[in-house]
Amino acid sequence: MAIETVPLPLPPSADPSKFKDFGREVKGVNPATLTPEQFEEIKKLLYNHDALLFRNTDLIPEQQYALTKAFDPTSESYGHGNNKTGETKKSILHPDLKTIPRVPQVQLIGNGIVYNHEGLAEAKLKHPSHTTFHKTCVSEEDEAKGVTRFYRWHIDAALYDLSPPKVTTLYGINVPKGGRQTCRYDDGTGDELDVPLGTTAFVSGRTMFDILPKELKSLAVRSKVRYAPHPYVWMAPARAKSTGLGIETEGLEMSKDELPAWEESKVKVFPILWKNPVNGQLSFQVHPCGVSELLIEPLPAGASREGALFPDGAHLTDLGEVRDLLYKMQRPAIAPSLVYPHEWHEKDLVLFHNRGVLHSVVGAFKPDQVRAFHQCNLAASSDPVGPSPEDVTTWA
Ligand SMILES: [Fe+2]
Repeated sequence: MAIETVPLPLPPSADPSKFKDFGREVKGVNPATLTPEQFEEIKKLLYNHDALLFRNTDLIPEQQYALTKAFDPTSESYGHGNNKTGETKKSILHPDLKTIPRVPQVQLIGNGIVYNHEGLAEAKLKHPSHTTFHKTCVSEEDEAKGVTRFYRWHIDAALYDLSPPKVTTLYGINVPKGGRQTCRYDDGTGDELDVPLGTTAFVSGRTMFDILPKELKSLAVRSKVRYAPHPYVWMAPARAKSTGLGIETEGLEMSKDELPAWEESKVKVFPILWKNPVNGQLSFQVHPCGVSELLIEPLPAGASREGALFPDGAHLTDLGEVRDLLYKMQRPAIAPSLVYPHEWHEKDLVLFHNRGVLHSVVGAFKPDQVRAFHQCNLAASSDPVGPSPEDVTTWA
């Protein structure tokens, strides 16, 4: 049987014209046992569509690791590093991750208590909730009615020392049945999104760039972000915006001398736009929570200065200003019509192009709703590639 693809099932909230290229369900192939030829086809599909869904998949952790690694054969360790959480216990990621002992690159994530799972006698899992991360929370009364929020829009990446994984694989093992929830933005826009319980929400980084007005495209193509050292430790005391898209600026971040030891050479500075290795398209790939500075190149020779922002370049270090600019560029792309909220079924395997999408955990489970997923991503063998000189000429 040949590999077949069909569009992902879009909810009524989504604007189909914005999802023409995004996401495909793949049929007619077993992702656990791909031949090298089939893998090449899957790889091309992933880079062209940014998210692939395989249904009714049987996948042991070894196979999930092998599949993930095939996208970057010299990558090896988990995207946030293996067995290194000891030194970064204060990191906000620490409680969310449990390692599969046999295959430490695969993490068990979910909710509730899971027993006798792949060598883990008992794993206490907690679905991340906005209540522990956002500055404001949905009232208990609204929460009881099923109102929730995006937890945190992000790229899977350590953002310090290690390179952002190319691909993340997410495999649903136990998926509690639940009703719908309303994901509220609570940012004064009235935006909200009807979502299945425990959805993973995706937005396209390509769309994030495409929908920007000219002056912000010019800014994006000329800019790099500098992440804080140990960003997840740095941001731990701070609180997020109600949309989960970045942090409120209240001066709560850890000061540099309170952080675990760090080296300048391991601090990450990435272009805002990352170039797709297959089709050359540009994706807006910024993990807004971890950014501390913005470095803007001047307009290239011959570019029109009319309406241009920072035509002579700039190095912005004011956290409020940096965050406001990023938010202005990223918020449009998380509008309800641009979000793909995946409705999980047991044995769903989702592969996503971590360098082409942003994603967020959504929703809240009760302690007795047991959910178990396997997640794998690997710190990449190289950093993402930014815009080419031709891209800069085109968009600046
Ligand atoms: Fe993630």
